[in-house]
Amino acid sequence: MKVSIIGAGGLVGSCTAFALQTGKVVQEMALIDVNADVAAGQALDLLHGASLTADQVITAGGYEHIPTSDCICITAGLRRKPDESRLDLINRNTDLFRTILADVRAAGVKADATVVVVSNPVDVLTYIAAQELNLPCGQVIGLGTQLDTARFRSLIAGHLGAAATQVKALILGEHGDSMVPIWSSATVGGLPLENHPCWTPRTADELFTRTKGSGAEVIKKKGGAGFAVGLAIQEVIETVALDRRRILPVSSVQNGCYGIRDVALSVPTVVGRAGVVETLEFELWPKELQALRKSGQVLRQTVDTVLARIGAGV
Ligand code: LAC
Repeated sequence: MKVSIIGAGGLVGSCTAFALQTGKVVQEMALIDVNADVAAGQALDLLHGASLTADQVITAGGYEHIPTSDCICITAGLRRKPDESRLDLINRNTDLFRTILADVRAAGVKADATVVVVSNPVDVLTYIAAQELNLPCGQVIGLGTQLDTARFRSLIAGHLGAAATQVKALILGEHGDSMVPIWSSATVGGLPLENHPCWTPRTADELFTRTKGSGAEVIKKKGGAGFAVGLAIQEVIETVALDRRRILPVSSVQNGCYGIRDVALSVPTVVGRAGVVETLEFELWPKELQALRKSGQVLRQTVDTVLARIGAGV
């Protein structure tokens, strides 16, 4: 599988490339960035490690790589300021993102390519990409709450002193302020999290609040997230590459799952070579379901505002 990373000079794009290098699954990576020198530097740095990792083709370049790419990962965009919500980014980022989509379209995309959207606000931009790329909607995947889910698990594990990979807990909905913690299915070591001797409702609230603020916390401390987001993207891309059919909390345009439609957000999604294979409506607690639908409404309002601004009139 050949993956093009647009925005590969930045922190998220370069961490994604490094995660894909150490993952050793994809065969080829093309690093694309407005700053061609930085992209060339990232490619060179990665190539220096090739003899220690895997036999991959790693190049820097431009949109000439798009027609031969099986997966196109778009991370380019402006970063949030620490006190800015992801939705505040919308006006600043939509125009830039649409220029990238136009360039991708003009270059020519393989009919079966999968597009992974990472730029924020990711759910809104995933919706726009699905509208503007002339690809079946299921081939456009947003990173969604895949990253929040990873953070959530790690923070829960850290609090309990549990092994991080043994904590399973999910976040669905918006990658943003209306994200929804799914406590109904949270487990540690295969047992219900709420039965853990150290678990209290207060702990649950605190850990979810910290998870929700994690992006901003990292921005404040080091300027922006890189490692965890790179790993979260790697899981999505490798699931596509290997047609693994893993259930991931990624974002895509919904068509009735949990009664939500015409907006992109994260629900349990089976991911494979074709992108979204199917979305699954697991039973949730009523308050989780309500919060998920509310998240869809919040996002739909933003999508409406954006569409009115860009004059798409949908
Ligand atoms: C974050 C960005 C990637 O949550 O949205 O860190």
